Amino acid sequence: MSTPGYFISFEGGDGVGKSTQSRLLGEWLAELTGREVVVTREPGGTTLGKELRAAVLHGEDVDPRTEALLYATDRAHHVASLIRPALERGAVVITDRYLDSSVAYQAGGRALDADEVERLSLWAVDGLLPDVTVLLDLDPTVATTRRDGRDDAPDRLERAGDEFHRRTREAFVARAAADPGRWLVIDADAPVDDLQAQIRVDVAARLGLTPVVEEAVEA
Ligand code: TYD
Repeated sequence: MSTPGYFISFEGGDGVGKSTQSRLLGEWLAELTGREVVVTREPGGTTLGKELRAAVLHGEDVDPRTEALLYATDRAHHVASLIRPALERGAVVITDRYLDSSVAYQAGGRALDADEVERLSLWAVDGLLPDVTVLLDLDPTVATTRRDGRDDAPDRLERAGDEFHRRTREAFVARAAADPGRWLVIDADAPVDDLQAQIRVDVAARLGLTPVVEEAVEA
């Protein structure tokens, strides 16, 4: 199942800073490795995915199984059309959320069976798992306070309530503890630059990455 590229996912609750940290890590890894870097997200990393994202976040209310299938559909197409081809080209792919979000939100949060949700997602992506998953862990009440600074309306998941977000966080922490070889857990209650510095060190060590050394040119 292994590919020539590197596959990194960011996970965590709403408003923990995943998109900023993904982008900054991508810029640094492009320099460090000299490889193509693809920074993407779920839901909504493809054209079809953007439609699914609008439906699942801002559309009519749907039951938990429909919600799980919409995220799995977005993920299946995302992997087949964008992530797997990039990894096969040898790119670094960084995704803001991947299948662990489905297990944390649709099972931990919505209370579907965790194994079923995981199997659904693994089937959707034909077994593709990240080489490393960074969990930005933050108390959901801190994240909600950050969100209060924004002026757009909260989406369906953001409206799901404190208890839902507390269960989601617990599910992420439990999954990370069960598979420490894949996960890096980072306390996200820190300034952006400090977090990024820690993520760079930990991800590079985990992937065994070393800087590109320019060939010395004899004069
Ligand atoms: P995202 O755009 O990452 O929101 P935020 O920037 O606020 O973290 O994700 C949108 C929402 O979709 C978020 O509340 C988490 C939820 N979600 C799921 O419930 N299941 C999933 O499989 C994924 C990928 C996201």
